[in-house]
Amino acid sequence: MKEKIAVAYSGGLDTSVILKWLQDKYDADVIAVTANLGQRKELVGVEEKAYKTGAKKAIVLDLREEFATEYVFPALKAGALYEHSYPMATSLGRPLIAKALVDVAKAEGCSAVAHGCTGKGNDQARFEVAIAALAPDLKVYAPLREWEFKSREEEIEYCQKRGIPVKATKENPYSIDENMWGTSIECGVLENPRVAPPEDAYQRTVSPENAPNQSATVEIEFERGVPIALNGERLSPVELIMKLDEIAGANGVGRLDLVENRLVGIKSRELYEAPAATVLHFAHRELERLTLDKDTMHYKAKIAHDYADLIYNGLWFSPLRYALDAFVEKTQKVVNGSVTLKLYKGNVSLLSRWSPNSLYDESLATYAENDQFDHKASAGFIKIYSLPLKTYYRVNGSPVSSQEAVAK
Ligand code: ARG
Repeated sequence: MKEKIAVAYSGGLDTSVILKWLQDKYDADVIAVTANLGQRKELVGVEEKAYKTGAKKAIVLDLREEFATEYVFPALKAGALYEHSYPMATSLGRPLIAKALVDVAKAEGCSAVAHGCTGKGNDQARFEVAIAALAPDLKVYAPLREWEFKSREEEIEYCQKRGIPVKATKENPYSIDENMWGTSIECGVLENPRVAPPEDAYQRTVSPENAPNQSATVEIEFERGVPIALNGERLSPVELIMKLDEIAGANGVGRLDLVENRLVGIKSRELYEAPAATVLHFAHRELERLTLDKDTMHYKAKIAHDYADLIYNGLWFSPLRYALDAFVEKTQKVVNGSVTLKLYKGNVSLLSRWSPNSLYDESLATYAENDQFDHKASAGFIKIYSLPLKTYYRVNGSPVSSQEAVAK
């Protein structure tokens, strides 16, 4: 019996070649699976193209809602930014595409799945670890790690020989991956970190210089850590992200130029554009400042770091992630209210915040005469608080200078 393979298919050059190559090499039937995660371009005519490339079936799945609610929002609530900055649109998309691939493989009786990731990226790990978790016995093909093609030109030549429709447009100098949460851009001149990003590398933001001279104001309302309304209008998760992305991108917000540490041990330089993600992380963080108690807030920051690593490193379907989700979820009970921000030429700044769960007590914070804070109580508190240092330096002598203290 012929092998049947479900292929993660974007319609781009690599995955088009994969569709045909698997038929040629393994005499297999292939099913093309395309996930809609809110990317802007790519999906037009993708089914037709898959059939023209010999697919037995082409399936396009609208996973936008699932992506927003089950992948993006948990990461937002956790405050997960890889190496303190990257909101991980690509990293969050991969486990969901893998899940879709596994679902199709099971429904269609496939014995294998295939993806178009290279052998030196993070994405291969994200796909394969996710597949291992969801279907431990499913075979995985990663043609880019094993096929004979060494360049784009050779792939194009194969397309011409095998009748695969390829657009004769000029080659994009960058490698781009996108979904509703952001765009990742690499390759070409960007591979030299000394080179400033050319303006044409950016896909969904205007440069701060070209942004309007008038700032935009956005009010975001949260319920249990999840954004539910934009400027007073209740929106679905997908609508909210897309609409906010539009506004923030038009004001030059969300650009990031990052040299990052990949799972496979190399440093890579990547440009990111994540307008909505940047604004939502900012707003969410500000609301947590108002509503979380000090210890929970500080502890959660440590979790955020681990949570980001786990997403970046492909461990989305791990027991640890579910356990961390339980912790994060518990903290978000009080993260309700709204944050108003100003977007202006690439910057996000805070105008106001409000929460029914606010822990900010003006009568304790004020320096005016209605002050309720017990100043006298501080004396005893500090007496005890400073006791360990007092004792230490009585015994060892007080430091004269930092230099001396370090050397001693
Ligand atoms: N370095 C990023 C990550 O690992 C993005 C990789 C995106 N791929 C691309 N073709 N630009 O999440």
